[in-house]
Amino acid sequence: MARTFSLQELQKYNGLKGNPAYIAYKGNVYDVTKIFKNGEHAGVKAGTDITEIFSKSPHDENIFANVPVVGV
Ligand code: HEM
Repeated sequence: MARTFSLQELQKYNGLKGNPAYIAYKGNVYDVTKIFKNGEHAGVKAGTDITEIFSKSPHDENIFANVPVVGV
């Protein structure tokens, strides 16, 4: 079963102090530790729901295809 994260739990996974970096997008939680260095990527912080802001990124949704899902 998928692990369920509250927004508050998600905040812990901010990519800082040895924590992995997770972000939420459209209901899924992804492990972006390899992409979010020091908890940040292009000014976007890990541990947050990026659903709204993602449309401002240069990426297409298919960028998530190869990123591990760790929960919902
Ligand atoms: C709102 C969220 C995001 C914003 C604003 C953003 C923005 C950017 C920008 C400006 C670049 C540089 C583009 C270039 O060199 O032309 C970039 C590169 C990249 N982004 Fe994002 N991004 C976001 C989310 C993500 C997510 C969620 C992933 C992966 C799941 C991702 C993966 C990458 C990769 C692999 C690159 C190219 C390699 C690198 O520069 O590290 N990005 N992104």
